[in-house]
Amino acid sequence: MFGKSSVLAIDVGSYLVKTIVIEGTSKKPIMTKCNISTLPTHAIVDGEIMDRESVLDSIRNSLDVLEVENKQVISCISGRDVIVKKIRMPKMNEAEAREQVKWEAEQYIPYEVEDISLDFQILNPSVGEDSMEVLLVGAKRDAVDARLHLFRDLDLEPIVLDYAAFSLQNIFEFNHSVETGKLIGLFHIGAQYTAMSFIEGIINHFTREVPTAVTTLIQALQREAGIDGEKAIDIIKTGEKGDIDQYAYQNAVESFQDDLGIAIERVLPYLPEGFENFNQIVISGGGSLIKGIPEFLEKRFGTPVEVMNPFVEFDYDRESPFINVNVEEMGPILAPALGLSLRGLK
Ligand SMILES: Nc1ncnc2c1ncn2[C@@H]1O[C@H](COP(=O)(O)OP(=O)(O)OP(=O)(O)O)[C@@H](O)[C@H]1O
Ligand SMILES: [Mg+2]
Repeated sequence: MFGKSSVLAIDVGSYLVKTIVIEGTSKKPIMTKCNISTLPTHAIVDGEIMDRESVLDSIRNSLDVLEVENKQVISCISGRDVIVKKIRMPKMNEAEAREQVKWEAEQYIPYEVEDISLDFQILNPSVGEDSMEVLLVGAKRDAVDARLHLFRDLDLEPIVLDYAAFSLQNIFEFNHSVETGKLIGLFHIGAQYTAMSFIEGIINHFTREVPTAVTTLIQALQREAGIDGEKAIDIIKTGEKGDIDQYAYQNAVESFQDDLGIAIERVLPYLPEGFENFNQIVISGGGSLIKGIPEFLEKRFGTPVEVMNPFVEFDYDRESPFINVNVEEMGPILAPALGLSLRGLK
């Protein structure tokens, strides 16, 4: 099933649909096709697909433009339909854990076990005498099914549906040698959600998603400056405030920054034992491209901030006629799709 020489990965965000094809090997991947298309504002709300036709059209359009021939696709899910918890359970091997995890999940996930699709990762096989530490991931089954059906309607066969925050960790690890003892905050600021993961080496200590994201800024701009959503998005993308009132603009930006700062502060009590703070922040997603965000975070948290460049080791075909975005500029937005694609190569 796995280990193709050409892999199609699609990250369907609530504003941007990222479609890429990669080739090569898992050690030396190369992106050969890439397209980003937009969705109307209300097509996906809180992770739920509200306007199926628009989403299908958008994906179909990207597949056509890129002349995609792949039949299998790797995609992801995120947002409030996914719950991630670090738990302890009795020591056992992976196969046994796969059975047992269903029963453990009942205690930790506030849905009926039949209504969720479960996955897990053994973080530490030996904690104390007879326990191990496991990262439990539960996704609501109807949300998973909705995503799978989307691709089946396009005659594609979805082979992996990953958790977006893990894809991000995957691409980060691919590009950087990660060290133990160093805690890195990976903050992915999307249109509707910001995913925060705290990683140390290859261990994901904690992941949470919050609804403070670029849409929070769009709404603040609409409120403060009395403009419509389209104009707000334009201002955000270009970083030019145009003819809107300087104070209104400043208020909106400060209110957004404050909301984001508070959202991050709220997760600090969950930092792993032994860490009072993180050593570095790496940001990605459309929100990382907003003017002033890296500087704001650096100041608020007193930690170096970097905008993720997913193309340190991951290459792309500079001659390809099928890459119609500015790859270097859009890297932080493409990061989850690139991480996803890595799951498919040999
Ligand atoms: N230069 C840019 N180009 C495109 N979008 C940008 C840019 N700068 C900021 N944005 C904003 O970033 C957001 C899109 O980022 P991203 O693709 O990471 O989100 P998404 O995956 O669509 O959303 P989510 O994952 O939250 O559902 C939009 O809200 C958009 O307005
Ligand atoms: Mg996204």
